[in-house]
Amino acid sequence: MSIYLDNSATSPVDDRVFEVMLPYLKEKYANPSSIHNDGRQIRDELEKARGTVASLLGADTSEIIFTGSGSESDNMAIKGLAYGMKNKGRHLITSNIEHKAVLETFKYLEKEGFDVTYLKVNNDGIVDIEDFKKSIREDTILVSIMLANNEIGTIQPVEEMAEICRDNDVYMHTDAVQALGKMPVDVTDLGVHMLTFSGHKIYAPKGIGVLYVDESLKDFIVPLVHGGHHEYGLRAGTENVPYIIGIAKACEIIKDQLQEDSKKIGYLRDLFEKRVLEEIPDTYVNGARDKRICSISNITFKYIEGEALMVYASEIDCSTGSACTSDSVDASHVLYAINADPVDMHGALRFSFGRFNNEEEVNRAVDILKENVKKLRQMSPLMSNE
Ligand SMILES: Cc1ncc(COP(=O)(O)O)c(C=O)c1O
Repeated sequence: MSIYLDNSATSPVDDRVFEVMLPYLKEKYANPSSIHNDGRQIRDELEKARGTVASLLGADTSEIIFTGSGSESDNMAIKGLAYGMKNKGRHLITSNIEHKAVLETFKYLEKEGFDVTYLKVNNDGIVDIEDFKKSIREDTILVSIMLANNEIGTIQPVEEMAEICRDNDVYMHTDAVQALGKMPVDVTDLGVHMLTFSGHKIYAPKGIGVLYVDESLKDFIVPLVHGGHHEYGLRAGTENVPYIIGIAKACEIIKDQLQEDSKKIGYLRDLFEKRVLEEIPDTYVNGARDKRICSISNITFKYIEGEALMVYASEIDCSTGSACTSDSVDASHVLYAINADPVDMHGALRFSFGRFNNEEEVNRAVDILKENVKKLRQMSPLMSNE
């Protein structure tokens, strides 16, 4: 049996989520836009689900837009606002450690005539507030900075940045795909205008995402998909009711057990990290260890290739760089951004822990890593050259 330590790439579906979805795949199939009784009942249930999601985020029900993924939510927020506000200004700000769903969207907008500032992070993986303040201009319309990074887990000072944005009449979006379910995420406390999250990172299925949009902003977002008046006119297409019911259940569970989950996940991650660092020589953690979500451990194993270790320790499911780019030969843009050693960065692996992991798996994973790191180092030219 493999040991699944890749929960940041995707999470298993929680049984409780699966159960509530089933009726909507079978008998509760009516279209929520239909005006017959069955349609109206589904509409009520869909809107109740919207309310559940809103309540987890501290938002109003009408501020929740269901999308098809975290990537789509990021695109809708960034392109939607950029196009909607282009007469006000054409300057946008982000960081150089964002997920590709954000970075590539900004790169696309550069081709469309927008001017983008990519803020650098320090060696801990955190954006500098003074640099951020200096980057704001008269024509800045939008800032998008992730709440927690998907490769090293570092948490950005989003609350502070959102306040600066509000003082400067600039809109702020945050990608909270990795943060939700690992730390409290409340849009009022954060002060952001838009926030993204995704179902398959919180024990709901793949293919469903959410974008929170501040009520005052909804009229200014240009939709990506035109058609019917679904999702307040921001995303045409008959709603994916079973998945919406599922993501709402996943949110309800987070509301009930965030503390319990984050305590358990943090305990397992810390146990893993402590044993690896103590028992496997020449290993270290990438990024800040204190300002991190509880679930991610990005570890460099010096003198070996991360991919080779994954092949040798094949019982462990984990990632090199970020999972979405694991078919690319380039080293991670995040490790470059934190000035990681260019040779060492090829020996970095991301382990991400979740609700369904246990202590026995963590201990077994460390034992497997210990044995295989030793084997690979015996053959490593980097090691023998030392
Ligand atoms: C920080 C972050 N943003 C966005 C995404 C994209 O989410 P989805 O896979 O739902 O498109 C991911 C997925 O890994 C992510 O980690």
